[in-house]
Amino acid sequence: MPTIESILNETRVFPPSKEFASKANLPSFHAYQTLCAEAEQNYLNFWAKRAQEQIVWHKPFTQVLNDQEAPFFQWFSDGVLNVSYNCLDRHLETQADKVAIIFESDEGEVIRSTYHDLHQRVCKLANALKSQNIKKGDRVVIYMPMRIEAVVAMQACARIGAIHSVVFGGFSAKSLHERIHDADAVAVITADEQVRGGKRNPLKSIVDEALSMADAISVRLVVVYQRTGTDIRFNPVRDVWWHELTENISSQCEPEWVDAEHPLFTLYTSGSTGKPKGVQHSSAGYLLGTKESMQWIFDYKPTDVFWCTADVGWITGHSYVAYGPLAMGATQVIFEGIPTYPNAGRFWEIIQKHKVTTFYTAPTAIRSLIKLGADLPQQYELSSLRLLGSVGEPINPEAWMWFYEKVGQSRCPIVDTWWQTETGSHMIAPAPGAVALKPGSCAFPLPGIFAAIVDETGHDVENGKGGFLVIKKPFPSQVRTLWRDPERFKKTYFPENMGHGKYYLAGDSAYRDADGYFWIMGRTDDVLNVSGHRLGTMEIESALVAHPLVAEAAVVGKPHEIKGESVIAFVVLKGQYPQGEEIAQITDTLREWVAKEIGPIAKPEEVRFGENLPKTRSGKIMRRLLRTLAKGEEITQDISTLENPAILEQLKYPSK
Ligand code: PRX
Repeated sequence: MPTIESILNETRVFPPSKEFASKANLPSFHAYQTLCAEAEQNYLNFWAKRAQEQIVWHKPFTQVLNDQEAPFFQWFSDGVLNVSYNCLDRHLETQADKVAIIFESDEGEVIRSTYHDLHQRVCKLANALKSQNIKKGDRVVIYMPMRIEAVVAMQACARIGAIHSVVFGGFSAKSLHERIHDADAVAVITADEQVRGGKRNPLKSIVDEALSMADAISVRLVVVYQRTGTDIRFNPVRDVWWHELTENISSQCEPEWVDAEHPLFTLYTSGSTGKPKGVQHSSAGYLLGTKESMQWIFDYKPTDVFWCTADVGWITGHSYVAYGPLAMGATQVIFEGIPTYPNAGRFWEIIQKHKVTTFYTAPTAIRSLIKLGADLPQQYELSSLRLLGSVGEPINPEAWMWFYEKVGQSRCPIVDTWWQTETGSHMIAPAPGAVALKPGSCAFPLPGIFAAIVDETGHDVENGKGGFLVIKKPFPSQVRTLWRDPERFKKTYFPENMGHGKYYLAGDSAYRDADGYFWIMGRTDDVLNVSGHRLGTMEIESALVAHPLVAEAAVVGKPHEIKGESVIAFVVLKGQYPQGEEIAQITDTLREWVAKEIGPIAKPEEVRFGENLPKTRSGKIMRRLLRTLAKGEEITQDISTLENPAILEQLKYPSK
């Protein structure tokens, strides 16, 4: 790959205010540097000390890092703990009556759950799962609406040592089936329906459909949470109501003590080849990463009301809803709905109502809220806010400035946090009391994270030059392997050309500016970022060619004002090139097909038909040409290796 040249030129700088810095957990750049120096001088001691301070161990560890089977690193491996104990029981003596979760439903109903109450709910479900013979190491798929029960389900699995795999409620039966099958899950926890933005999504019937597909025989239990009370099909051998299962069951449940490396969960994420990857996380290392970032980056204070808007179906909802805030003993908001229902003021209303102090969301949400009501935040009382955060994709400086001025009233720092499903917790982000902010930059690595930008031979590039983002040393919260695919894990994340297989390769391109700030430029593989969600182009292509009408398909991303990127599909049909009304009909059919195969987030925005795709003489699809066409730009690249130049004309415009 040629060297990537840096593109942005943002010069505004926002140093931390004295007011904010004076109370911050990391109150100065010097404090941040001191921690970094400590990590540099004695890397193992640095992490050992933090693991001792932050985690309640059932049996303390004596070994910090085991790298004998690198890149299959192990952290604190002879230590024993339970993550749910660390999130709940440890707070019972000191703050049992503190509110852990302020839940707001789609309709606006508010439910508060204290640490005591949450502990009881988790213990009851844990006991119920045990009564159904779900054991340590079993896989449990969670397909739930964004409610307290979703967190309870995750925590209950952690409590009994079962490995959860949460599947986002927007995924189709086919995607759900694929994940159930890959994990050989023994149980699914779901709800009758999900309610978001006034619309209902029939989760239970999607589960039924997934379980009726071939090879889903491993599932012997489906626990159904009653959300709406709608009529559902019930299989008496397999299905049980959550409320019946947890009735008359003890609210005390001794945690299952597990090794530090025991898998806490797997979470599927897109890669550049067809099949999603089951990212496997550990117990102790993962927990440590979420806790340190809560303190360094979210500057957590016991008086905070923390709100991360991510769904538990994504990593952000794991680390900064289900685990990090609870491990800190925080009060957090969980919201079932969407930012624009019943109107575009919903987020601001929730912040006002629950006096949110820390608000963490995604650039795509910010952009859609700007579009629907740039002046709306002013109509709400947002003075409780003290810190804002962004995640999921690069935030464009305009959206950053709006967020800063209109939402944060030029008072609240914005932490732009770069990380991934695979890293488990923040990797590059400004400690808000220590680091001056630059709109669009995620600033510097966290202490103990050795991020760098290198060329294709793994050598550092100079500041100002683009390259591959890597992390040079192992870190506690990193992905341990890909579920049942260690070879793919090694090949994807630790390729030989990167520090002799020692560097973690993130799959993003980035550069550092003259001050050393990191700027993320985008993915280097065939992965799109649509509304902050990772979608593999291959995944969508495989779905398209699985349709009986389609002979061949190529999918690329096109910049999109709100979503970041949108999906454009170039399709060759098996029969004739479509004409007239057929075009719209087949387009609709294929869009619906992709929604059914993967989920509505993967629907192509546009489908263009051709008699062929642009290919090299050796038959490789020339995607860079398709990307140019999708953007509506003229092709100026070298097309001398193109076998069939005439095809470009046909694909130039949306099919009519
Ligand atoms: O390309 C980067 C982008 O999202 C990818 C990770 O996606 P996922 O595993 O779904 O996790 C998203 C939430 C952590 C990264 O490889 N990305 C994430 N955060 C940022 C970002 N790009 C730029 N700036 C960010 N703050």
